[in-house]
This record gives sequence, C-alpha cells and structure tokens, in this order.
Amino acid sequence: MKIDVVLTPHLLPPRFEDALCVVIDVLRATTTIVTALASGASEVHPCITAAEAKRYANSENDTPFLLGGERRGLRIPGFHLGNSPIEYLDSSKISGRVIYFSTTNGTPTLRRAFRGSAKSVYLAALVNLSAVSTAIVRAAMNNAFKRIFLICAGRHGKASLEDLYCAGLITQRLRSELIKYGISPEPSDTAILAAEYSRMNGAKPLAVLTASEHGRYLQDIGFAADLKFASQVDRYDIVPCFDGKRITISSE
Ligand code: MLT
Repeated sequence: MKIDVVLTPHLLPPRFEDALCVVIDVLRATTTIVTALASGASEVHPCITAAEAKRYANSENDTPFLLGGERRGLRIPGFHLGNSPIEYLDSSKISGRVIYFSTTNGTPTLRRAFRGSAKSVYLAALVNLSAVSTAIVRAAMNNAFKRIFLICAGRHGKASLEDLYCAGLITQRLRSELIKYGISPEPSDTAILAAEYSRMNGAKPLAVLTASEHGRYLQDIGFAADLKFASQVDRYDIVPCFDGKRITISSE
C-alpha cells in the first residue's frame, strides 16, 4: 500500500480514483470541523466562496443553519462564526445545526480531494489523530484502493509545518499498523520526510504549531488559544467524512 504525503493540494494529479484521501488542515479548518461535529453539528458543507455558502444556506427550508468561516483568519463579515475551533465548543449553539463553512485553504482542499478521487474523503487533525489513523487502516483492509493520499491543505500554495507534522504522525501509525494486518506500507519520499519530522518533534505538538508560519500569524491576530486547542492530540474520537456534498461523522 503506497502512502503519499501531498504537501499542498496544487501537487495533486488531475485524477486519483485509486486513492483513499485524507485532508489535513490542523490550523484550523479540519480541527474546527471535528470540533463542530463533536459538539453536535448535524452536517458541515465545505464551500469555496462566501457567496456559495450564503446561496446554499438560503436554499434551506426549515433546517437551522449557521454560516462559518474566515478570510485572513478573521470571521467573514455577516457570518455567524469564524474559524476558531473554540467558537464551536458550545453545543447549545451548535447542536442540530447545518454549518455552511468556507475557509481559505481547508474547504477548497476538501472539494479538490473529492473531485480527484470521486470517493469519500476523511478529515484529520491532531485532535482526532488516533481515530482517523484507525479508520484509514480499517479502510485499507476492506477497500480496493492502491494508495493513501495524506493531503496537506498548506497555506496559499505552500507547505505548512503543522500539516506536515500531523501527516507524519499518521504515516508512523500506518506503517506500524498496516504491517500487523499483512499489508506492506510503501511510503513516498514526502511520507518519509513527514514521518522523520514528526518523530523528531513527537512530544511537542504545541511547539510545532507555535513555530509554524500560520501559527505565528494566528498569534499575531489574537488566536494564540487556538494553537493550544489544536495541539490536543486525541481530544476527540470521531472521524469526519466528506461525501462530496456534506461532512458527517463516519460510522465505519
Ligand atoms: C484555512 O482554511 O486556510 C485555515 O483554516 C485558515 C485559518 O486558520 O483560519
């Protein structure tokens, strides 16, 4: 089984129907989506633009919804919520809502992953690291795909340290777990790079997030608490799954 870490979505080939895709955006889109679903959101719809999110929301009839997302890290004007995972912790506000969600890098990466693979896409962050790693191993045992793409959302077309770190931790888990089930892992060079980087920094998730370019930017604009939140390995035991339209908690 090939394991490939894709450092930015721009490096994806046009089509990859033989791959299971996992999208990673630790700061902050996938961390926030995991949190929203854990707080009881019924669905999250990843949108490319703010206009698209509003259009989908307006086409809803009776379903209660929220608009969430950011540009330059800040809440989109007119939206109910931004992209801080901490805003999605209050289940009295989130539970039962459909969230139309648009972020700069994370939601376009999710849509791109589905477009290229034409199959459900898992969402990964540090907060659901073990759950998503287990789900990938289970899928590798049951499904007919040849490779695993760990797709880092990155930042404006450039690689991000925090996504590389998370991809490396998942790669480490996959390498040891797949072997137990008789599946031989074949890591790409970027998967080896990610695994080595995460091994070197294994016990220091907050230090990785704090040192990263986007982590420094978020601290500058007042979101230092989000770095602490996003660095909580295994806070949640759920795996969000994007079916091309909506993200829900995977039942597999
Ligand atoms: C993104 O999707 O670009 C990020 O989640 C940006 C952010 O930290 O808000």
